[in-house]
Amino acid sequence: MYKGKVVIITGGSSGLGKALAQRFLAQHAAVALVARDGKKLAQVKTDLAGYLRAGQKLETFSCDVSDISACEQTLQEIAHQLGAPHILINSAGIIKEGYFDTLALSDFRQVMEINYFGVINFIRATLPYFNRQGGGRIVNIASLAGKFGSFGYAAYCGSKFALVGLTETLRLELTPRNIAVQLVCPGEFDTPMTQQLSTSRTDENRIISQTIPVLSLKQVTDEVFAGIAKGQYMTIPGRISRVLEWVNRVFPGLMRRTLDAKVKKIYAGPSL
Ligand SMILES: NC(=O)c1ccc[n+]([C@@H]2O[C@H](COP(=O)([O-])OP(=O)(O)OC[C@H]3O[C@@H](n4cnc5c(N)ncnc54)[C@H](OP(=O)(O)O)[C@@H]3O)[C@@H](O)[C@H]2O)c1
Repeated sequence: MYKGKVVIITGGSSGLGKALAQRFLAQHAAVALVARDGKKLAQVKTDLAGYLRAGQKLETFSCDVSDISACEQTLQEIAHQLGAPHILINSAGIIKEGYFDTLALSDFRQVMEINYFGVINFIRATLPYFNRQGGGRIVNIASLAGKFGSFGYAAYCGSKFALVGLTETLRLELTPRNIAVQLVCPGEFDTPMTQQLSTSRTDENRIISQTIPVLSLKQVTDEVFAGIAKGQYMTIPGRISRVLEWVNRVFPGLMRRTLDAKVKKIYAGPSL
C-alpha cells in the first residue's frame, strides 16, 4: 500500500514513532526517522534493518524539532536521500508532570517549544514539498490530554490542547490543497515516556490518569496505523478512551463532577 511513498516520522527513535516506522517499512515505504539523540537513532536503524527489502530505504536524521532552521535543513537532506515526502507523522514529544506552581516556567516553555512549535516547524518545512507535488498527508500525535484537563499536566495539557486546535484549523485550510490532516489522541500507553514518568509523577496524577487502563504500545500502534490508512480524521485508541472523550464532549459537566469527585476522594483518603 505504501510502496514508493516517503514517510517522515519525528520522534522515530522511540515508542510510538519507532513502532509506526516498523509498520510502514513492512508495507514497503521509504522511511525517514527524526529525533535528537544520534546514538538512539543508530540503534533503531539496526533494530529495524530486518524489515528492509532490497532497495528499500530507512534513513535517520538527528534534528531538534524546536529549531526551525534545523527542520528545514533536515527536509532538504530527506528529499535528497529518499525523495520528496508523501506523509509526515509528528510524534516527537516530551512530558513534564507536576503541580502547576512547582513546575518551572522553563518547563512550560520547553514543552510548548517541542510539542507545539516543533510540529509547526516540521509542517512548515514539509509544506513546500507537498505543495510542489500537489498533495500529502500530515498526522499529528496529540493526546487525550489535548481534550480534557488532567491533574499534574498543566504544561503538557496546554501544549496538546494547542496542538489539537492547530490540527483542526490545518484540516480546514489544507484539505482543499489535497493535503490530508489527521489527529491522534491516545490516553496513556506503555513507552519509555510513561516508564520514565512513572518514576517521578505525583500520586494524584498516577491515581487519576490510571483510572483508564494503560494500553499496550502494540494496541495503540495497530489502531493508529489503521486510522491513518482509512484516512480517518481523529483516532482515539482504546474503547474506554473513546467513551471518555465522548462523555467530555457531550456531558462536560458530568466529566468535571467525576474528576472533582476523584480529587476530593484522594485528599480525603487516609494516605496517598
Ligand atoms: N506514551 C503515552 O502514554 C502517550 C499518550 C498520549 C500521547 N502521547 C504522545 O505520543 C507521542 C510519542 O510518545 P512516546 O510515548 O512514543 O514517547 P517516547 O518513547 O519518549 O518518544 C519520544 C520521541 O520524541 C523524540 N523527541 C523528543 N523531543 C524531541 C525534539 N526536541 N526534537 C526531535 N525529537 C524529539 C525522542 O527522541 P530524542 O529524545 O532523542 O529527541 C523520541 O524519539 C508524543 O507526542 C506524546 O506526547 C504519548
